[in-house]
Amino acid sequence: MKNRIQIVQKDITTMAVDAIVNAANNSLLGGGGVDGAIHRRAGKKLLAACRTLGGCVTGNAKITLGYNLPASYVIHTVGPVWQGGNHGEADLLASAYWRSLEVAAQKGIKTIAFPAISTGVYGYPVQDAARIALDTVCDFLQDHDLPQKVWFVCFSSQALTIYRELYDALC
Ligand code: APR
Repeated sequence: MKNRIQIVQKDITTMAVDAIVNAANNSLLGGGGVDGAIHRRAGKKLLAACRTLGGCVTGNAKITLGYNLPASYVIHTVGPVWQGGNHGEADLLASAYWRSLEVAAQKGIKTIAFPAISTGVYGYPVQDAARIALDTVCDFLQDHDLPQKVWFVCFSSQALTIYRELYDALC
């Protein structure tokens, strides 16, 4: 199981995988952070495609082509805004990872890269979010052959350290 998971520190927009996951907002019409980076690199056709999707509720995921990105697809998911931990944030974050994987598997996607969803603008503590991310992906991979490989793409060395420590204790 663990051999299907990799942890790296990179700019996710450079990843030549089947799909990269975007930490979007409910409008799916772009923003800052990784959302902004993905839209900048993908080009205007990505925004045009997103306009046809009718938004995305928190915890769900929707797919588009990757356009000018090296990745073939972008899976747009919306994580929860951190509100202290007593507003269902953990379940919503787990759902964002789980639904992204379901959408990927339905498309026959073999390789997928996730950013650290909700840990930037949305303020989710990285340690808690990383544990949810790793546990959810591990649970999904135990029962599914696709995706074959999952990358967790950290943008900072601090996040990389946290993910790597949790990975060692993983499934
Ligand atoms: N590659 C990989 N990771 C990145 C990149 C990048 N190019 N840019 C930022 N990140 C990391 C951040 O450091 C953070 O760890 O992605 C993680 C998620 O941060 P955000 O992009 O701020 O996403 P999130 O916290 O989920 O907030 C979503 O921010 O950009 C807006 O439109 C977006 O409203 C939505 C909100």
